[in-house]
Amino acid sequence: MAKMWAGVTDGKTEKIADDFNSSIHFDSRMYRQDITGSMAHAAMLAGKGIISQKDADTLIAGLEGILNDLDSGMLEFDWECEDIHMFVEQVLTQRLGDVGKKLHTARSRNDQVALDIRMYLRDEINEIIDLVKMLIVAVTNQAQQYKDAIMPGYTHLQRAQPITFGHQLMAYAMMLLRDIDRLADCKKRMNQSPIGCCALAGTTYNTDRWFEAKNLGFDGICMNSLDGVSDRDFCLELMSDLSVLMMHLSRFSEEIILWSSWEFKFIELSDAFTTGSSIMPQKKNPDMAELVRGKTGRVYGDLMALLTTLKGLPLAYNKDMQEDKEAVFDACDTVKMCLKVFVPMIDTMKANISNMKKAAQKGFINATDLADYLVKKGMPFRSAYKISGSLVAQCIQNDTVLEDLPLETYKAHSDLFEEDLYQEIDLLTCVEKRISEGGTSVASVEAQIAWVRSQINE
Ligand code: ARG
Repeated sequence: MAKMWAGVTDGKTEKIADDFNSSIHFDSRMYRQDITGSMAHAAMLAGKGIISQKDADTLIAGLEGILNDLDSGMLEFDWECEDIHMFVEQVLTQRLGDVGKKLHTARSRNDQVALDIRMYLRDEINEIIDLVKMLIVAVTNQAQQYKDAIMPGYTHLQRAQPITFGHQLMAYAMMLLRDIDRLADCKKRMNQSPIGCCALAGTTYNTDRWFEAKNLGFDGICMNSLDGVSDRDFCLELMSDLSVLMMHLSRFSEEIILWSSWEFKFIELSDAFTTGSSIMPQKKNPDMAELVRGKTGRVYGDLMALLTTLKGLPLAYNKDMQEDKEAVFDACDTVKMCLKVFVPMIDTMKANISNMKKAAQKGFINATDLADYLVKKGMPFRSAYKISGSLVAQCIQNDTVLEDLPLETYKAHSDLFEEDLYQEIDLLTCVEKRISEGGTSVASVEAQIAWVRSQINE
């Protein structure tokens, strides 16, 4: 069949060229946005007297019919069509005759596709934000449950200072909260309507771009028609926000994988979110967390792909830009899939409190507190640090821990040591003393939980 755009050429293209050129197999998912956008366009055309109200009513009813038929499965996509825009127009014209041909007045596929993607992605952003919220709720509930479960906090993956599992979990809640903030911010810039920019230069018709923008729930309009059809920075921004989100999920996954290992055994994932080995019967593998970590690279790749596609493009539209959709859709699909599995995985995760405690008791993670003890009794920190260090060295030599050294040993290092030092270096005391805002004490963690919950409910 000759193409709708047959004009200077006869529109008879090779099949292989059609297959290469077409985007319907991935842009058909925007049918709802495409049709809704066209309904607003028809209404605008009639409102401005560019087509008659009767024609607009016919077009809108026809579009509604197509939408319903696609929703119900009555109407199937024609994969021979170049893209979703051509498909809708083709069905409309088949159903309505000549009136259908009036819809594409004062617009172009260039502004149409830019409109569809923005509408599609802002819905995706809402969905992703809701999923991140669910994850924050799950993380926060776990933090609440384990707000006094002592574990070693690490730097350089070396045991550093005692913290609680709740405190560690709340760190992720904070990151995820910023991810939501970034996504909401991205949506603000995305929610500007490009429809009416037309092919690139605007139009000679007396259109009303604000009518369409408001009708479709946009906050404003793209103020330069070349920009409106040419840029895909909103896709890049979304993908970079998604990349940061995935980076957070990936770090969290990495910890879940470590914590699940026999070397740590800090947590146990629910059987429902682990897999076995086909050969080693003892295995319980954290595949979900590993896949989230793995898929992070894929989302970064989507971002890089589109950045690279766009970098050398002259204004305005170039067909290269059709590559935007597979990248940004894949990034959204991947992130949603990861979140959908992450939420219940976290929800059902159980902590092994006694293993955490055991690990906390072994790494001299109260050595800072021992030094602080001397400082509070008047010794300069550097000197106290030195004494604490030699006591740790002595413990290592004698295969013991600070808690078990006799008072005489302490006294041999400094007269300032008294019986109360043991209370000071007790792990629970170490945690409970860290009452600074954002710190690890139960009260501080509870305050963090309350704050995050209030942010989520806003
Ligand atoms: N399928 C195209 C895309 O996704 C729609 C825009 C086509 N515009 C054009 N001038 N050929 O980019």
